[in-house]
Amino acid sequence: MPRSNQKICNLTHYNSKAKQSGTQGFFALGGGHMASDTVLSIQNISKSFGGVQANRDVSFEVEQGQIFSIIGPNGAGKTTVINMISGFYHPDTGAILLEGQDITHYSPSRVAAMGVARTFQNIALFSGMSVLDNLMLGRHVHMRSGVIASMIRFGPALKEEIANREIVEEIIEFLEIEALRKQPVESLAYGLQKRVELGRALVAKPKVLLLDEPMGGMNVEEKEDMARFILDVNDELGTTIVLIEHDMSVVMDLSDRVVVLDVGQKIGEGTPDEVKQNPQVIQAYLGTQATV
Ligand SMILES: Nc1ncnc2c1ncn2[C@@H]1O[C@H](COP(=O)(O)OP(=O)(O)O)[C@@H](O)[C@H]1O
Ligand SMILES: [Mg+2]
Repeated sequence: MPRSNQKICNLTHYNSKAKQSGTQGFFALGGGHMASDTVLSIQNISKSFGGVQANRDVSFEVEQGQIFSIIGPNGAGKTTVINMISGFYHPDTGAILLEGQDITHYSPSRVAAMGVARTFQNIALFSGMSVLDNLMLGRHVHMRSGVIASMIRFGPALKEEIANREIVEEIIEFLEIEALRKQPVESLAYGLQKRVELGRALVAKPKVLLLDEPMGGMNVEEKEDMARFILDVNDELGTTIVLIEHDMSVVMDLSDRVVVLDVGQKIGEGTPDEVKQNPQVIQAYLGTQATV
């Protein structure tokens, strides 16, 4: 599939400026393509693993400041989309643009350095290490001094470590986990481990946060806490969020916009209310598993 990202890239950039200043720029758009403040542009991405087509021709755009949810039954291809945005996999065809820049074939570390952080569907913390150490590791994406220098703690590395520690402390306070600093992560309740994982993504100060089922396996109280933190991250830190979540009531409450995947393809997109009423979506997903 041919890619036309360069053109869209320029338009996005232009319009985003225009929207902010409230002048010029709208002439350039035409065709009702409201690309204003598009942070993430997913353009016709497809991905196969052997005989399994995990994504087929999926497109959507995430705007600055949105909570954008990806829903769909198990195996729909949701995690694969996040894996491709974060550079863990690359699409076979199609393109991914971050603020107009083509990141389709970037490595995970390069995508991370551009301001994209993620959490994983299964907890991926370093067991045997404390909450604090796990969070400090999340800062490595921004460290200039090598890991060795920062361990020996001298000169610029020490200064950097102090700055990193301050950011980590901000996030610890934000997530209300002050009392857990020194605890080994594996000793924490499941919901708190998920919160620490969120923290590890947040200390990177991401522009875009990708959350793969952050409430999976949680009890109701843990879910409520996590939902509140997600809203606060979006609201107070201004972070754009792409969320994969199974609990429909959570999705409907939190999301500005929802895209629905089924067997690798997009079958619906819109506001939560629009998606709820989409017959294809109801048939594929909402009608069967959901608790709307
Ligand atoms: N690394 C992989 N190797 C082989 N198949 C994979 C891989 N990742 C995902 N898949 C397959 O792609 C499909 C979509 O998976 P996934 O994106 O994890 O779905 P979801 O997150 O919506 O449950 C599934 O059939 C899954 O088995
Ligand atoms: Mg998944």
